[in-house]
Amino acid sequence: MSRTLTMGVLGLGEGRSIISAVLNSDDWELGCICDLNEALCKERCREFQVENYTTDYKEMLADDTIDVIGIYTPDQLHAAHIMMALEAGKHVICTKPLMVSLDEANALLEAQKKSDKHVFVGQSSRYFEPLRRQHEDFEAGKHGELVTLETHYISDSRWFLERDWSRADGFSWMYNFMIHAVDLAAWYLPDIEEVYGAGIVSQNTKAYGMDVPDTLKFLLKDKDGKFASVTGVYAAPTLGSAVQQNISCTLRGTKGISQGGYPKLKYYTNFEPLQKTAALQTFDDLHSYFFRFEQESHHAGEYQNYIEHFAKSLQQGETPKPDLKEGIHTLAVMEAMEEALKTGQVVRVSEVLAGRNIHLK
Ligand SMILES: NC(=O)c1ccc[n+]([C@@H]2O[C@H](COP(=O)([O-])OP(=O)(O)OC[C@H]3O[C@@H](n4cnc5c(N)ncnc54)[C@H](O)[C@@H]3O)[C@@H](O)[C@H]2O)c1
Repeated sequence: MSRTLTMGVLGLGEGRSIISAVLNSDDWELGCICDLNEALCKERCREFQVENYTTDYKEMLADDTIDVIGIYTPDQLHAAHIMMALEAGKHVICTKPLMVSLDEANALLEAQKKSDKHVFVGQSSRYFEPLRRQHEDFEAGKHGELVTLETHYISDSRWFLERDWSRADGFSWMYNFMIHAVDLAAWYLPDIEEVYGAGIVSQNTKAYGMDVPDTLKFLLKDKDGKFASVTGVYAAPTLGSAVQQNISCTLRGTKGISQGGYPKLKYYTNFEPLQKTAALQTFDDLHSYFFRFEQESHHAGEYQNYIEHFAKSLQQGETPKPDLKEGIHTLAVMEAMEEALKTGQVVRVSEVLAGRNIHLK
């Protein structure tokens, strides 16, 4: 059996990064690329010197040589595109957010079970070098017992509202942006149960005719009472990533502390024997691996890390994580967050799942 997997890429904006990841990985081959926009298909073919493209997703799904569909279409289309891939007997790698609500969760769980194919959620932040190292150190016990954690995703992303689909129903700063910070919290606290928070729609988002909160703060508490604080700010000036990383995760344990972030390749640790100031690891040699295109805004390195995790998991007969169930649990946390904003009350994730008759065990 061939050890390489063949990917068909759907959506060629951010899909550019996954094409680069596939072409640079020994575990993968590129089967076909697909976008409704034929000019963009041709541009990507020229950029990566590949030939096989189509503007018809169904045509790509009918290609028997393709094992996995990589989905990079607008957020609101992910659920339908995952469903079509599963029905065609393909594995799925879908960028975040997995979906924009839990409406399709049960149908997808059923389709995934029936197809016996994997659905992997491309939560890219987990695969960024400092955040990978932080997780390895956590698993190795260097923090001792986890006491609390703080995550944030802060960026002035008003440019994002220039797009048609980000002003359409189903877009929110929470599901498109803040999910990175929520996913990091859920990685360390997989049993988040109580959610409480506040959010504001600032004048800067209202100026685009939109009514989605852009400045948000939540406490997420697990069944043992451990909690994460999660912050998101998306339509206001920032300090700049040299002062405050766009994405950051701080773990505070009984024996040690660490902080990893993005886009700067910085990882701070203070493990036993404890020092007055944390040690800093930088990964300058990996800068060009992570940032292959202009500036520090593309994601090819993280994507290569996650597709290689996917391929190795399959080779070892394991489920690549985060999988569909984990992705749906994170969306249930997000739905609880939305409910907490509306009601000003603490909302229980188990009640959100029960209210929708979703069973993840
Ligand atoms: N760090 C990350 O993981 C990360 C970063 C950026 C974007 N993303 C995600 O990637 C997705 C795409 O974002 P983007 O910035 O590339 O948006 P985009 O609008 O630039 O690209 C989406 C593309 O999908 C194509 N498309 C839409 N419907 C289609 C269909 N039915 N068949 C074929 N093609 C279709 C569009 O023509 C467009 O080219 C979003 O879900 C976004 O959240 C993830």
